[in-house]
Amino acid sequence: MTLAELDLHHSQSLAEVASVAEPTALEQLRVKYLGRNGLLPAIIKQMKEVPAEERPEFGKRAQAWRAALEAALTEKHLAVATEETKGPAFDPSLPGRWFAPGSKHPVSRVIEETAAIFARLGFTVADGPDIENRFNNFTALNTPAHHPSMDPSDTFWLTDNLLLRTQTSPVQIRMMTQHQPPMRIITPGRTYRRDTTDATHSANFHQIEGLYVDTQPVSLADLKSTLAYYASEMMGSKAGVRFRPHFFPFTEPSVEVDFSCHVCAGKGCRVCKMSGWIEIAGAGMVDPRVFQFVGYDPEKVYGYAFGFGVERIAMIKYGIPDIRWLYENDMRFLSQLA
Ligand code: DAH
Repeated sequence: MTLAELDLHHSQSLAEVASVAEPTALEQLRVKYLGRNGLLPAIIKQMKEVPAEERPEFGKRAQAWRAALEAALTEKHLAVATEETKGPAFDPSLPGRWFAPGSKHPVSRVIEETAAIFARLGFTVADGPDIENRFNNFTALNTPAHHPSMDPSDTFWLTDNLLLRTQTSPVQIRMMTQHQPPMRIITPGRTYRRDTTDATHSANFHQIEGLYVDTQPVSLADLKSTLAYYASEMMGSKAGVRFRPHFFPFTEPSVEVDFSCHVCAGKGCRVCKMSGWIEIAGAGMVDPRVFQFVGYDPEKVYGYAFGFGVERIAMIKYGIPDIRWLYENDMRFLSQLA
């Protein structure tokens, strides 16, 4: 075949494509020229018969033809395609594609919001290990040697000296033995107790500890205003706070802190056991004995401390009547809080 004949096929094929107006005829043209037994592959197969000096140019033009023909076929296909050959049209009535956005777990949300609120008061977040020793978890917190909380029926002991911490308070000891006042920290974390699980108890729960120590006098009034500020930021300005006298070995005086029940606005419901209040935290002025244990001079240092139950806060903030819901990872529950 000569170059001239090749060019003739080229222009003829394009003219044929231009002349059809119907998908089946177009497909027949594609098969005629480009199909496995089509004209173009046949011509290329016979290239060796083309005189050697013409062969490079012949090859080049054959490729140009293929490119032009494919482009013309595609363009024509789009022009003549029926609904059927184009594929389904856009259907605006189809439901949108569902995607599952993740959400933060309520326990994480309470911890993060609490850290943000206390950050505004100058508190930074400190951390400590889940496995503690007897000194940090009990002794330095001024717990008497035979206090019932140390009993194996209450505490998960790992060895004679090591245990799963029963409270986040030992992080106070770690921080005070490593740093000098002033100090403002909060410490969120897991805690462990041999409690039987029910609607309000779990053997593994979370606390947020707070500690303020300074060489300037700090009073119970400061503690109360700090916790009242926290309550209104966390629960809204209508939230009530109440302080009841209590005893903790590591604070003197000690208080228990109740928030008004968010679920029933203090009227009384199942969540608050009809009292209108929910116990949320223990708190108090750091006992001078604790300062002695960490090597501070109790005559020169002042401080207050508090410890919140995270699940308690989550339960009243989100109206969750059973603590176990927080651990079941049931999406039907968790996605409602997203
Ligand atoms: N650690 C106490 C508990 O788990 C809570 C607590 C009470 C923490 C008083 C404190 C505090 O820091 O001052 O019951």
